[in-house]
Amino acid sequence: MKPTYYPTRAHLLLCTGPRCRARGADTVFRYLWDALEREGLAYYKTGGTLRLTESSCLGACCCGPILLAYPAGAWYHGVTVPAALEVARALHEGRDLPETNRFDE
Ligand code: FES
Repeated sequence: MKPTYYPTRAHLLLCTGPRCRARGADTVFRYLWDALEREGLAYYKTGGTLRLTESSCLGACCCGPILLAYPAGAWYHGVTVPAALEVARALHEGRDLPETNRFDE
C-alpha cells in the first residue's frame, strides 16, 4: 500500500510561530483553508492544485504573518486572508504573482 498522490502546482507555507500567531496567523490559516476548499483550489478537490501547511518560524518575525509559496519562492509579509487568497488564486491559475507585500525581490 502507498499514499494517494495528488498533483500539486504550489505549496503555501504559512508561519504560525509565536510572533506570527500574535499577529493573527491562526485566523489567516483557518480562513485561508476554508477559502481554498470553497473555491476548489485545495489539492484534494477535483481540479484543485494547492497545498497549505502551517510552518514554524520562518525567520522574518518582525513583520508577520509570513507566507512562503513554492516552487515560486515568493515571500510575503503582513498577509491577510484576502492577500493570501490572491496569491493562491494566481498560483492555481499560473498568473504572475501579486507584488504587494512581497519581499524576496
Ligand atoms: S514567528 Fe513567524 S517568522 Fe518568526
